[in-house]
Amino acid sequence: MSVSIDQIVSLSKRRGFIFQSSDIYGGLNGCWDYGPLGVELLRNVKEAWWREMTYRDDIEGLDASILMHPRVWEASGHIGSFADPMIDNRTSKKRYRADHLVEEEIERLRKKEKIEEAEDLERKLDAATSAEEFYRLIVDYGIKDPVSGSTDWTEVRQFNLMFKTFIGPVEDTSAVVYLRPETAQGIFVNFNNVLQSSRQKIPFGIAQIGKAFRNEINTKNFLFRTREFEQMEMQWFVAPGEDEKWYDYWLAERRAWYTKYGIKEENLRTKPHPDEKLAHYAKAAIDIEYLFPFGWGEIEGVHNRTNFDLSRHAEYSGKKIEYFDQESRERFVPWVIETAIGASRSTMMFLVDAYDEDEIDGNARDVMRFHPALAPYKVAIFPLIRKEGMPEYAQKLHSEIQRRYKSFYDESGAIGRRYRRQDEIGTPYCVTIDGDTLENGTVTVRDRDTTEQIRIPSVGLMEWLGERVP
Ligand code: GAP
Repeated sequence: MSVSIDQIVSLSKRRGFIFQSSDIYGGLNGCWDYGPLGVELLRNVKEAWWREMTYRDDIEGLDASILMHPRVWEASGHIGSFADPMIDNRTSKKRYRADHLVEEEIERLRKKEKIEEAEDLERKLDAATSAEEFYRLIVDYGIKDPVSGSTDWTEVRQFNLMFKTFIGPVEDTSAVVYLRPETAQGIFVNFNNVLQSSRQKIPFGIAQIGKAFRNEINTKNFLFRTREFEQMEMQWFVAPGEDEKWYDYWLAERRAWYTKYGIKEENLRTKPHPDEKLAHYAKAAIDIEYLFPFGWGEIEGVHNRTNFDLSRHAEYSGKKIEYFDQESRERFVPWVIETAIGASRSTMMFLVDAYDEDEIDGNARDVMRFHPALAPYKVAIFPLIRKEGMPEYAQKLHSEIQRRYKSFYDESGAIGRRYRRQDEIGTPYCVTIDGDTLENGTVTVRDRDTTEQIRIPSVGLMEWLGERVP
């Protein structure tokens, strides 16, 4: 089912998934708020990742603070090189990421079926790393400003993406701190703490979910590129020489997670980074991409970060960061395989992928086919009519179920309309209390996807749900 980003944005607002931040003040660009259903979906996505990654013996969890010592970002290289190539158009006075302008040109060429030209430009973009190289591509290909059509460009400049703020009351350079642009560094600087307190042995991992901030030049495509977002990252520490094996292992594990939670196979692909595009510290990197309505976009990166991060933090902090292998009696700085996925970006992926329209008895219906583990409500409970003790029975069942599962109670309107409302927000099961329930204690359970109905004893409902909702 194809759906546009505008449709997703508008249904998200209408049904209470996502709202523009500071909406009543005209909104704040690149920031979004999660409404009553959105916050459930986001929490469920994070829970699905947390369970997958930390409910095993060899991965520990962590929740590091957002503000960290400024030297962390010198050591990590973010102060020196966490920058995007930026270009201004003199006519429209608009600012763009130079590489994004080139990517859009490649898309245009493809749409015009100028495939060879598109591939040639893509190769050049992959090879471009300096501001000058991006500038040349824009000028040589006559790329126009999407707003004014002008080709009057400034030179390309590198723009650091970290948000700065100050610790304490004095706003001078010695008080500068940064909002973290990735959660990974909180893991690296805690390597010794976690190793000593958990007594893990290599290979092992540390996982973290948390907010990250990037002063993106162009925020776009809803939750895809925002200035405040959440990441779910895991750093897996291995002995030197073991890195390639574990890189393959984690790519396969992470790739499988998406289909396990219902993402359609045809909407996923992996794309390795070409060698010339690798970060200075990386030996290999691959993106897991999703086919969004605007095209393929990265959801997750699996990276071989070598021993760069731990070595740099050892150098900058003056503290030893290493591992002593009891068996080989060797001491070494571990290598790191990283899996880094956006919680907000993947929430958008789950929204897009779940969206569907079909027909029931000749009537069109909108349905969100969320995996039951991710659906905001797991079950809705309806009394067929508002009398004869049915509401009381339904209320009691709803309270019991709500002890374990997010449940929705609804007694208003025709039963068909109540089903439709739940289909629209992706509730996998609707339970109806009717006359037979009062006589024999059975309820009707209707499946969102098939719309089939079965009768089961109401006392067995919790167990029945337990077999279907992870
Ligand atoms: N520690 C490695 C790291 O941060 P990244 O590829 O820059 O790698 C990982 O980010 C993931 O975080 C991305 O795949 C994406 O899902 C998410 N992400 C990055 N920047 C984002 C942004 N501006 N808005 C939303 N999500 C973002």
